Parts: sequence; C-alpha cells; structure tokens
Amino acid sequence: MAAIHIPPGWRIPESRATSESAYQNRRAFLKKMGLGTIAVASAAHFPGCGPKAAHTTPTLLPDGPLDTIPKLAPREGYPAMRSRSFDVPERPITTYVAAASYNNFYEFIFDGDLKNVWPLTGAYEPFPMTIAVKGLVEKPFTLDVADLIREMDLEERLYRFRCVEAWSMTIPWTGFPLRRLIERCKPLSSATHVRFVSVNRPKQMPGITKGHWYPWPYYEGLRMAEATNNLAFVATGMYGNPLPKQNGSPLRLVLPWKYGYKGPKAVVEIEFVDRQPPTFWNDLQVKEYGFLSNVNPNIPHVRWTQAKERFISDVDTIEERPTALFNGYSTWVGSLYPDEPTEFTRMVR
Ligand code: MTE
Repeated sequence: MAAIHIPPGWRIPESRATSESAYQNRRAFLKKMGLGTIAVASAAHFPGCGPKAAHTTPTLLPDGPLDTIPKLAPREGYPAMRSRSFDVPERPITTYVAAASYNNFYEFIFDGDLKNVWPLTGAYEPFPMTIAVKGLVEKPFTLDVADLIREMDLEERLYRFRCVEAWSMTIPWTGFPLRRLIERCKPLSSATHVRFVSVNRPKQMPGITKGHWYPWPYYEGLRMAEATNNLAFVATGMYGNPLPKQNGSPLRLVLPWKYGYKGPKAVVEIEFVDRQPPTFWNDLQVKEYGFLSNVNPNIPHVRWTQAKERFISDVDTIEERPTALFNGYSTWVGSLYPDEPTEFTRMVR
C-alpha cells in the first residue's frame, strides 16, 4: 500500500498548535477508543478478491486536520446564526480538531488507522460538484453545489452525533434542512423513499481503488417522512467554517437520531423512488446494519453493546455515557417509529 506517512520533521506554525498537539495525542486517543470499526476490512470476507488495484497517492499533504477546507468552498453565510431549538444541554461541544481528525470516510482509507482520513484528502477537489436530481420528480435536473450553498439560508445547529461503532460527539453543523432541498426537487406524490449517492472519484480518493470490492459509490436511503423531518439536515460546514474534506465536503447529510452511516458524505445524486432502496452497509452486512438504523440502546450490534457510548469531547477526553433512544431526539422523531423496540432485542432494523 502506498501509505501516506507524516514526515518525521512534520512541523506546523504556532497558530496551529492545537492540531499538532491533537495529532501527537492520537495514539493514546485511539488506544482509549478500544472498539473496532464497521469496515469489512479484509479480503478474506470476499474470497478471490485481493487488494490488487493500483493505489492512487495524493500528491498534496495537508498541514493538519483543520487545513483541509477546500479553497473554492463558498464562504458567504459563515459563521451562521445558531438555532437555539437544537441545544444539547447535557454535554460539552466536541472540539473542532477532534471532529476533524477522527473520521469515517472509506473512500479515502481502507486499512491501517482507519480514522486518520485527513492526511489522505490532498488530491480531492470537491468543487466544482453537481447533484443530479432524478427518479420520481416533476422534471430531472442538475444542481451546482456551490450555487446551492450560496442560495440557501445557512443556520447552525448543535447536534448529538452517534456512530454505530459506539462513539459519539456533539457537533455544531452549518447548513440547511434537508426538507428545503427536497422541496426544490419537486418529488411526485408516488415517491415513498429517497436515495442518495456519494461521489465516486477513484483518482482523488485512494480508498476506492484499495477497497475495490466494496460496492462503490456509497449509497444510502430514507423514507420520505424521515427526509422531510425537521431534524434531517444538509451540512455544508461545521464549527463556523465550510466542511473540511474529511467531514464530507462539499455537503453531507446529518440525521442525528440515526447512526452516522445513514448520513452520506459528498452527495452527488438524489433519486426519488417508490420502494425501500438498497443501502451500502446493509448490502455488505445484512445481519449487522439495517435500513432504519435508529440509535437504540435496546438493539445491540452483533459484536458490541449499543447501551453505552464513548463520548469524545476532545482527542484525549473520552467519557462513557448511556445511549439514549433516538439519540435523545424522541420528541422530534418518535412518532415516525411506533414499533421501535423499547426493550432488549436482537432484531436488526
Ligand atoms: N459517507 C461516505 N460517502 N463514505 C463513508 O465512509 N461513513 C459514514 C458516514 N458517511 C461514510 C459516509 C459513517 S460510518 C460515519 S460514522 C459518518 O459518515 C462519519 O462522519 P464524520 O467522519 O464526519 O464523523
């Protein structure tokens, strides 16, 4: 593997001392995090498929996890006004550097330290990018992402973020409600679900060629009632800035009552359909990842409990907390799921 190594003499300016110290703490941080990842990381799962494909090496090495905001990202509207209805009173905000240096973005990284995505994003140029709107809509069309970001009224929302791997954060996202984008797409009344597809750029994203037996591009789906719920958010930024590349630039979905994998990064296609669409992780491991994937302490992952989570407030500050049903968003979304288990069950949903 053409791994990207941080040069031994790696230095950053004083102004970036936070990211440097965060980086130095990574080892202890990863050790504390303990659990594995959701990746189907071994070719052994797919007999006959070895990692034969050429690996594209990014030519530019970012200075640090906060230096990966694309130069062409629109800056208008940042920092946006925070909407108070979405406060998270019971825990602190995760530091920017922790949220930007502990990531899941398998298009970039396939083996090794899977969370260390940012050093691999150098070749990725998210702008310009377009989103194709298709399927059951009045008329298919294409959106320019930078224009879309400029046209939308941006707001900031503080959301709990819960990964299926049982780690969590609290993140101030900037963006707009997904419902507003859905309205713009003009879906037909026959549409019951909406499907999202992430960008597929093997030359810029080394994990795609390295993990070539994954069913790229990444794809996800929601019921229409979920996609139009007020909590469903399109994030174009975080911590008052446009999204860093590793966090899903140019835009990604954030569904805070669901496990993080339901929120595809770098969306380039939105398709309205009249049945439940297949999803990436469900296709890979049907016994481990369901379609709904609501945060639920009563449904363990087959390999670990979901009753507790490791809350990351900083790279070296991790605290165990109980997991809340719907990640604490029952009042917002509970009515969408009358049969969500409230007692222990092994049923994956
Ligand atoms: N979207 C794409 N395209 N590719 C991915 O690998 N990982 C998912 C989700 N969206 C993923 C993705 C998972 S498993 C999680 S937990 C979140 O992104 C992680 O978001 P973060 O890196 O900003 O914390």
